[in-house]
Amino acid sequence: MKTSFLILLVGAIACQADYDPRSYVDRKCGQDLGNLWLDIVAVVDNSHGMTDDGLGDVAATLCTIVSSGTRIGTNYTDARSTRLALVTYNSQASTNADLNKFQNLDDVYNNVYPALSSVAKTDNSFLANGLAMAEQVFDDGEVGNFRANYKKAVIVFASSYQKSGDFDPVHVAERMKSSGIKIITVAYDRGDGALLKELGNIASPRYNFTNKEDGLLENIQQALLEINCFCPNDWVQYRTSFTDISSAPFGICVQPITIAANWRAAQMNCRNRKEGNAYLVTEFNQAKHDFVLQAVRNASGSAQPYIYHIGLNMISGQWIWDQPATWPQPALQNWTGWAPNYPVASSSMSAVQNVQSGYQTVWQNTGLYTSGNKYVCETYTCDTDKYCVAQLD
Ligand SMILES: *[C@@H]1O[C@H](CO)[C@@H](O)[C@H](O)[C@H]1NC(C)=O
Ligand SMILES: *[C@@H]1O[C@H](CO)[C@@H](O)[C@H](O)[C@H]1NC(C)=O
Ligand SMILES: *[C@@H]1O[C@H](CO)[C@@H](O)[C@H](O)[C@H]1NC(C)=O
Ligand SMILES: *[C@@H]1O[C@H](CO)[C@@H](O)[C@H](O)[C@H]1NC(C)=O
Repeated sequence: MKTSFLILLVGAIACQADYDPRSYVDRKCGQDLGNLWLDIVAVVDNSHGMTDDGLGDVAATLCTIVSSGTRIGTNYTDARSTRLALVTYNSQASTNADLNKFQNLDDVYNNVYPALSSVAKTDNSFLANGLAMAEQVFDDGEVGNFRANYKKAVIVFASSYQKSGDFDPVHVAERMKSSGIKIITVAYDRGDGALLKELGNIASPRYNFTNKEDGLLENIQQALLEINCFCPNDWVQYRTSFTDISSAPFGICVQPITIAANWRAAQMNCRNRKEGNAYLVTEFNQAKHDFVLQAVRNASGSAQPYIYHIGLNMISGQWIWDQPATWPQPALQNWTGWAPNYPVASSSMSAVQNVQSGYQTVWQNTGLYTSGNKYVCETYTCDTDKYCVAQLD
């Protein structure tokens, strides 16, 4: 039987350290490395081609990635902690540290440097073996549902790309990615560019890097923050492209609700959703407006003509975007999606709905308590600002 998880928010309002909706830009994923909560396996090529200096660079990179206050291990009152494991490989792979070995940053420094002090004598470098070992480390590190709500990331550091017989790293990588593990690759390239291309097939989209690029460290950290940024079941993560699920994500989730309600009831229902701190959707710009329509079209139970409430409503003569009751409520700014001849000036029409017009939808104002429509809720992602627990449903 397929196990599915219902993810609930704990910690409620504590979160929104750095984001104010009045900035009128869509929220980014949480950016707090000190609150990273992931399970990470570093998979490091220590074959001869990596060189001792290359290995030293890898050790320094690994240690620095988690040095911004990240809680290493599991023994913390704040559940936002990160486990880091270390696998090395050449002709064979070995586990230098499983997911439970490092319980603080000192453990990382004291083990990673010795483990990566010198390369092996072989030129064989079978990434498939390293990846398969990482898979094993994840399996061993997840007993029952322990940390089942923590996303899994692999960081591969490779100096060459070889297949061992029929054992193709692409197959192992595909299997890992389809089970939800994200793969970051760092190519220690010796010039021909072939390695880069091969590792591009191993990496999750946008997460293939090289040791030559500026800002490698920041790029890996950003990738980890993105991997640590996701929506509860039944919510759609706002991203740069609706059709490309791997496009750059925002720290926002939307959920089309296909049971009709008037605007006020819809607002209440969003605010009372189990994830907490949800509200009727904002449309600060055309891109978000279009994304919301695509999410509505793709929702099961939706049908043309598309008509759905959004968070815009008039308060004291001003158009304001809905937010949880105690948060700042941003006023409508310059992008608007009004239908021709809207908004209609009427004190009894202080709520806004999207109404289909051809392939688009446009805003019309309506009564707070009159039109029963579908609607779209919005909430923030589970990320470094917001911990989400897993529960069996
Ligand atoms: C867990 O943390 C407590 C308090 O910080 C400490 O006393 C204890 O030794 C730690 N246990 C482990 C296994 O590290
Ligand atoms: C990553 O892969 C993409 C597509 O395969 C490629 O266009 C891009 O140049 C690669 N990036 C690096 C740094 O190799
Ligand atoms: C559309 O909905 C289906 C069913 O829920 C989902 O599997 C699919 O990923 C959605 N498409 C996109 C692009 O999000
Ligand atoms: C809307 O306003 C912002 C800042 O107030 C500005 O940067 C942006 O260019 C404006 N957009 C349009 C379409 O006028």
